Amino acid sequence: MRIVFAASEGAPFSKSGGLGDVVWGLSTALARKRHKVSVFLPFYSKTKRTVLDMYEFVDSFEVAQGQTMIRANILKDTKEKVDFYFVECAQYFEREGLYGYQDDSNRFAFFCLAVRKAIMRLNLQPDVVHVHDWQTAILPLLLADVGIRVRSLLTIHNPAFQGYLNPYNLGEMVNLASAYYNNGLLRFNDQVSLLKGGITTCDAISTVSRTHAQELLSDFNAFNGLGYVLHNRENDMFGIVNGLDYASFSPESDATIYKTYDKNSFKEGKRENKRELFKAFGFSDVESDVPVFGLVSRLTSQKGIDRVLRIIPKIVNRNARLVVLGQGEWDIEQNLKYMAKNYPENIKIYLGYNEALSHLVYAGSDFFLMPSKFEPCGLGQIIAMHYGTLPIVSKVGGLNDTVNSYYDSQENATGFSFASWDENCFDYTIDYVVDMYYTRRDEVDRLIVNAMSVDFSWDRQVKQYIDLYKMLLSR
Ligand code: ADP
Ligand code: GLC
Repeated sequence: MRIVFAASEGAPFSKSGGLGDVVWGLSTALARKRHKVSVFLPFYSKTKRTVLDMYEFVDSFEVAQGQTMIRANILKDTKEKVDFYFVECAQYFEREGLYGYQDDSNRFAFFCLAVRKAIMRLNLQPDVVHVHDWQTAILPLLLADVGIRVRSLLTIHNPAFQGYLNPYNLGEMVNLASAYYNNGLLRFNDQVSLLKGGITTCDAISTVSRTHAQELLSDFNAFNGLGYVLHNRENDMFGIVNGLDYASFSPESDATIYKTYDKNSFKEGKRENKRELFKAFGFSDVESDVPVFGLVSRLTSQKGIDRVLRIIPKIVNRNARLVVLGQGEWDIEQNLKYMAKNYPENIKIYLGYNEALSHLVYAGSDFFLMPSKFEPCGLGQIIAMHYGTLPIVSKVGGLNDTVNSYYDSQENATGFSFASWDENCFDYTIDYVVDMYYTRRDEVDRLIVNAMSVDFSWDRQVKQYIDLYKMLLSR
């Protein structure tokens, strides 16, 4: 099959969270199964800096966005048999961050218009166009709008971001007639939602776990009422759990950690990585054998960081440690900084994005905290398990589908989960695992082997996407 992806991020070129991992992991896994995959990404300042390869210049053209003509250059880099195409447009993408700008809707509307034109000019003739989240959700409709009929799949990675714009700007920004707003395809809470546009016009919609698909379909009011829209597409809605790219994330071959290890050598491997982790975060005593909790996350309310803040006194009283790597909302950052300042022997925080340091947190921690309020899939807990770090998670979305909880079955357990409403259970689990660490280390080790034995690879998960694409083509 010829498959075209359009997405707002893709590792290693750009990444702010799990979407970047998925775009890379899934596209390269599809290529290993001999599909022809082309991935379109914006050419951010970061993209230019982080990847030192020479990009090939393949095309340059003007894109009409409303009344304005804007030039886009198309650059290309082929990696792992996937053709990555970048849309270069300085005024929209040459910025420090990926998102969070006032004109984000405008930027990604332009991106979709440029990708549409590139697909035509480069004669890619895709069998399937696979778009991701609100930033690219509108591309299949844009293609249909100029008479190009391609099977399409929209994957919702994060339903909280819905790509709003003022209906008066629909023509100016997206080149679409107001009829698409008036007939309801794009209208959501009296604005245009680009995510809704994708949901109403793509051939199928998926999200990144079975449980999250059920959550979206069963709570009509969640996410500003997105359930009301999705329920009309119930028969075309799928849940496929994310995989992990083992070439990027594997403790036995990871060049960024201090000592590589596998499930036969994790005791020594994790001990040495723990010492390096303590050094990297600036603990004064780097040799002590205390349980360490890790957290690598966007610091947003989605991730339940308020719950983490509440258990910090417990971590301090039990003489355990917490290391946090993340960035995000101002108040969450301030609260974490405050805790780190008050408890320098127990809590350390690194505010920022740091890929190499994240690998050390996964390798050197004993437990990984992910008490999210909602979590479409979550890669943090999957990476943690693969590195033998036991996740402590709320039972929502993909966390429910990927972690076997000790409280459900001790035999197969790969971590601990608590019902999202039951915060007492989260508190209790912290005590429980600290006790386990000090008094029943064999049991901890047994769970580590369980966690490291699960196959989370994309090579396994990719099959479900291939079946879905084939199903779309057979319709
Ligand atoms: P989300 O996509 O909602 O942010 P996921 O758990 O799916 O959550 O994916 C998060 C990804 O981003 C993981 O690969 C995680 O290691 C990475 N990550 C998050 N924050 C940071 C950070 N500050 N530095 C490095 N990597 C990070
Ligand atoms: C989103 C979700 C996360 C998911 C990731 C990749 O950012 O918050 O749960 O793992 O996308 O699909």
